[in-house]
Amino acid sequence: LFSGPIAFLKSAPSLQFLPEPEVEEIAFAGRSNVGKSSLLNKLTNRRDLARTSNTPGRTQELNFFDVGQPLRFRLVDMPGYGFAKAPKEVARKWRFLVNDYLRGRQVLKRALVLVDSRHGLKDIDREVMKMLDDAAVSYHLVLTKADKVKASELQEVEKRTAEEARKHPAAHPEIVTTSSETGLGIDRLRRAVVEAIG
Ligand code: GTP
Ligand code: MG
Repeated sequence: LFSGPIAFLKSAPSLQFLPEPEVEEIAFAGRSNVGKSSLLNKLTNRRDLARTSNTPGRTQELNFFDVGQPLRFRLVDMPGYGFAKAPKEVARKWRFLVNDYLRGRQVLKRALVLVDSRHGLKDIDREVMKMLDDAAVSYHLVLTKADKVKASELQEVEKRTAEEARKHPAAHPEIVTTSSETGLGIDRLRRAVVEAIG
């Protein structure tokens, strides 16, 4: 699925610029700087497909990537939520964009909700999870930056996250632990995407 061509399609700064809903989509959501764009690059084996940065707030629009020729599905890189230092208006705009897309996109097949291994789930993640539950959009919780924590801490955060996932009807029971740095969990995540797309 990921060995064929993958190409940037377009950026949507607001909902009226979304591409036609021709194929199913898989979206990368999560707090600012959690590693969404890095994970998309790692998953697709393309170093600079999605732009990454050390500074939170790098991704500011919904970015759509076509996978397969003929087109099989699309990956969607999203702006992060919960970026405290963003100007209020900007944070509000991103929040509406992300929420409206996640809630209302008919072709959205699955969301990947990324969570920093060092921090675990935050209230803003829980809000997004609740919203996805209500919209009946299934999602996978994905721990990121696993290379940054000790094995014992990783086990602990996996356990806590799995316990919370059980309380959310649309959450997949399995937590996928990843590192875009070492490649940990990338094959598992690819399989999750393949399962979702079928
Ligand atoms: P926004 O677009 O601003 O919301 O951020 P994002 O979620 O797309 O994060 P991005 O991929 O830009 O990564 C943020 C920073 O974390 C960058 O400096 C990355 O190099 C770093 N990073 C991402 N994934 C990993 C990882 O698995 N391990 C380590 N050590 N660093 C990572
Ligand atoms: Mg990004």
